Amino acid sequence: MPNWWTEVRTFLQQYRSNFKHTGAVLPSGGSLGRALTRFVRRRDGDAHSAAGNSPRPASSEGLRILEVGPGTGAVTKHIAAALRPGDQFDMTELNEAFCAHLRRRFESESPFYQVASQARVMHCPIEQLSIDAPYDLIISGLPLNNFNVDEVEHILGIFERLLKPGGTLSFFEYIGIRKVRALVSDSQGRQRLRGIEAAMNGILRRGEIHRDHVWPNVPPAYVHHVRFERSAV
Ligand SMILES: C[S@@+](CC[C@H](N)C(=O)[O-])C[C@H]1O[C@@H](n2cnc3c(N)ncnc32)[C@H](O)[C@@H]1O
Repeated sequence: MPNWWTEVRTFLQQYRSNFKHTGAVLPSGGSLGRALTRFVRRRDGDAHSAAGNSPRPASSEGLRILEVGPGTGAVTKHIAAALRPGDQFDMTELNEAFCAHLRRRFESESPFYQVASQARVMHCPIEQLSIDAPYDLIISGLPLNNFNVDEVEHILGIFERLLKPGGTLSFFEYIGIRKVRALVSDSQGRQRLRGIEAAMNGILRRGEIHRDHVWPNVPPAYVHHVRFERSAV
């Protein structure tokens, strides 16, 4: 499986050179990718679409989807496979090497190239992303637990502003990661982790509509799906 090895090698190289932003040693596994993309597959009117659990209010237009921090494309491939004609799929990635890797996949690899005309890989941190229309779905792979509290609060605010009212944010965190890190942190580090927890709990209390427990992932992860009924701005 040469593509898998290329993906792992690229990821490891970037992890070594930029731990804070890469945030994981390996790309996400298939179970995590499927959980993160459940609302891409679940469309209005689909047989499995429970009332109030579709990606957005009823409409026949395609979905506007943003993936933040696609890395080597482990989650991207699940989004690509679930895209339908009329959908627009944007990705915003801080790391240039990951962008180059992803662009190659969209040129030549299935299921990427089939949806290349609907997809845009943008080399840009989410903090600087400027868009002309908001999104129905945001899927984030950002390692928020590596960031400062201010950065986390800022990014969560950006997610909310970039979503349409009623749009859905899906993001993951490793189960128990803050508790484990608190054990090996100094008091400043523990204060940072408590601040991140408070920021995350704030948005989860306001709008978490579903949580997946992804036990087969290494390490196991929660996937939070949050619906903001009303834009913060
Ligand atoms: C934990 S990796 C996840 C990669 C991939 N989604 C996966 O699940 O395998 C985090 C990714 O977020 C990217 N990233 C970190 N901070 C970012 C930012 N502020 N804006 C955009 N991408 C960022 C990193 O470069 C990396 O690709």
